[in-house]
Amino acid sequence: MHVTSLSPGLEMHNENKKDNGAPLEAIPPLGTIERWAYDYLQTPSIELRMSPPPLPNKWEEKPVARAWVRPLRPPSLRFTHRSKTPKAKTLSQPSQRAKLLHTFFHHELQAGELFAWAVLAFPEAPLPVRRGWIRLLFDEAKHMRMYAAHIERLGHKIGDFPVRDWFWERVPACPSATSFLALMGVGLEGGNLDHGPRFAAMLEAAGDPEAGAILRQVIADEVAHVRFAVEWLGRLGVRLESLADFQALLPPPISPVLLRGLPLNREARTQAGLSGKWLDELEACRLESRPKPTRNEEATECPN
Ligand SMILES: [Fe+2]
Ligand SMILES: [Fe+2]
Repeated sequence: MHVTSLSPGLEMHNENKKDNGAPLEAIPPLGTIERWAYDYLQTPSIELRMSPPPLPNKWEEKPVARAWVRPLRPPSLRFTHRSKTPKAKTLSQPSQRAKLLHTFFHHELQAGELFAWAVLAFPEAPLPVRRGWIRLLFDEAKHMRMYAAHIERLGHKIGDFPVRDWFWERVPACPSATSFLALMGVGLEGGNLDHGPRFAAMLEAAGDPEAGAILRQVIADEVAHVRFAVEWLGRLGVRLESLADFQALLPPPISPVLLRGLPLNREARTQAGLSGKWLDELEACRLESRPKPTRNEEATECPN
């Protein structure tokens, strides 16, 4: 079986599939970047996710959209629909810091996987956008390695704590490259610019400056990821002049209010190219205009 998922909530579409589960459009040809992205998702290896193999140097000549692809994960990862973020007062315990960093690791994993997915799902996106997504995937792999190394220093390993596939449950609903840039780049990665410094300060206050430094490095890298999304949305005709422009690109039931932390990290978000007016609207938006989120719609609160 080529296409499967090991996480609850990750359904594959079954129409037009070969007996082995792959759609008739099937698997990208060997030696292409699309096949590399496909194999990145289909090889059940955490090591490969953290240290991707070298890229081929050619793109498929006439790629088809392969939004149906879902990641195959190592059995060592345990999934849950609900996970609790450790409270600040518990972070003096190494196991609680490891649990927190394990959550961050899993966000990096999903982000890297979703950039590979976007390359496959949106072949119509301009080549520099697809190239950029691959570049960001390598950044996410670097972030995974940073977190995994510190989790080991704390006496744990990847797989020791359950993880929640919130990104994968939501992002594949994006119908277009611009929707993906909005949700993944401006929404999820943008929200992490708000949450990251708060968690870094919590880890430093708990006596783990090394963990705090890792988060601060990750956040610095993520500014460039958000800027990539903002700049390309602009080039593709989405100027993000009001929050409504942003919300229109988000697949329901995602609301901008789920994609920010308060206070906003205005300095980082401004560096990423978001305007003061847009940030004012993001800061002011409230959940009352939408139904209360269900358990699975709650915001993610951790950096990726
Ligand atoms: Fe990122
Ligand atoms: Fe990251």
